[in-house]
Amino acid sequence: MNVALTTLILPAGEAATAAAARALGQGGLVAFPTETVYGLGADATNAAAIARLYQAKGRPAFNPLISHVGDLAHARTIGRFDETALKLAHAFWPGPLTLVLPKTADCAVAELATAGLETIAIRIPSHPVARAILDAFGKPVVAPSANLSGHVSPTTAAHVKSDLEDRIDLIVDGGPVEVGVESTIIGCFEAPMLLRPGGLPREAIEHVLGRRLMQAPADAESDSGQPLAPGMLASHYAPRTRVRLNAERVEPGEALLAFGPPVAGAEHAAAVMNLSGRGDLSEAATNLFGYLRALDTRAARNIAVMPIPNRGLGEAINDRLRRAAVGRE
Ligand code: TXA
Ligand code: MG
Repeated sequence: MNVALTTLILPAGEAATAAAARALGQGGLVAFPTETVYGLGADATNAAAIARLYQAKGRPAFNPLISHVGDLAHARTIGRFDETALKLAHAFWPGPLTLVLPKTADCAVAELATAGLETIAIRIPSHPVARAILDAFGKPVVAPSANLSGHVSPTTAAHVKSDLEDRIDLIVDGGPVEVGVESTIIGCFEAPMLLRPGGLPREAIEHVLGRRLMQAPADAESDSGQPLAPGMLASHYAPRTRVRLNAERVEPGEALLAFGPPVAGAEHAAAVMNLSGRGDLSEAATNLFGYLRALDTRAARNIAVMPIPNRGLGEAINDRLRRAAVGRE
């Protein structure tokens, strides 16, 4: 089944919110901004809509999805919150945090969204456009990043359009996103575990919990449909151009993704984009995916990436860069 759709693009506002809620209710696919990246939403209770979503993204396997809801009361109808989960929810929701929890007995979310797991990933986003759509729709919305599987996540409506035009029903354009990397995912197991570094720094979470987070085994976050399966570093968030990490200088024919003062050889680079000239990690996170997309169009031999400190949002940035560098031709 390959139905060619015409994708409607609407500026964020009341008309777009109403159109989004209507489309979701009809099993449609709606891209909308969250504070982290643009998400591709479908009705989390509608298995047919979720199947279409996997197909539109070209996702090879039924990887479990995050269910987005508008408030904690709603979240508690689908996930069982222990004391730790409640502490994190109160401290950081709405915001760039996803909690993985046991499902409730009467969880309304389709099995396909949780890939048959006993657990569910839940997030309350803070972006006003996402919140308006969730409020208007009133049911949980699954939303992976709104890109083709394996591509770099979208931080503008134009990125969504270039990947998914004619594969989805609606794009709500709310301008560029603020955070720029996906949410931090915490597994609320016996000991809370960092499953994916993201837009909420680990340090902030550890501060609230008063303890260190457990480290997930090898690669918890993957496109393979097997979360928490050790030993697989998914190639993901990847541009087509080869990515060379921790570059100390620029080699001939390379493009440079800089951070802080550019390294030697930058003046001969095929192209230079600086994540943050003043070395600000939050600015770098915001720019990361857009700059990777832009440099990917420059037909460079490699994208050479300068070292990024591994603290705060740097942990998520380095995670995405490592994935971008793995296993590409
Ligand atoms: O910022 C974000 O989180 C964005 C925006 C749109 O909300 N969404 C996003 O979704 O990044 P996605 O599908 O690209 O990533 C969801 C991740 C997957 O790696 C999946 O393995 C993990 O969440 N996940 C979902 N349910 C899980 C579960 N029950 N246990 C462990 N991991 C889970
Ligand atoms: Mg994704």
